[in-house]
Amino acid sequence: MKEILLKKAVEMLEMSYSPYSNYRVGAAILTESGKIYTGCNIENASYGATICAERTAAVKAVSEGEKKFKAIAIACSGNTFAYPCGICRQFLYEFSDSEMKLYLIKADGETAETYFEQTLPNGFRGSDME
Ligand code: THU
Repeated sequence: MKEILLKKAVEMLEMSYSPYSNYRVGAAILTESGKIYTGCNIENASYGATICAERTAAVKAVSEGEKKFKAIAIACSGNTFAYPCGICRQFLYEFSDSEMKLYLIKADGETAETYFEQTLPNGFRGSDME
């Protein structure tokens, strides 16, 4: 599954709409039901309106009723791994558990992997308000 997710994330680089940064990001999320949802970064002339690849994939999944993520793969056009930005870490955390995997691939094909939770230790959940 890791290889499939990485491949789909790389394929999404082609769909990236990034005329301002020229930096492409692709993502693929595996949900609990076994489906894969993909996304890319989509920029805007009003820069702050840009959405990252990870959140594009996540909103596609959640809007189809998929609220439990098992893994995410992230590809980028640069030669440094594209670990999710702070906003994406919090956004994804909502639909993750401690088992969720994070796979990364950069332009030269090198890969890395970790648990997603490692990117947001002691993250905040809705259940923390109970
Ligand atoms: N970007 C992502 O898609 N994901 C990240 O985790 C980091 C940043 C995008 C947003 C923007 O289109 C470009 O990369 C430069 O910030």
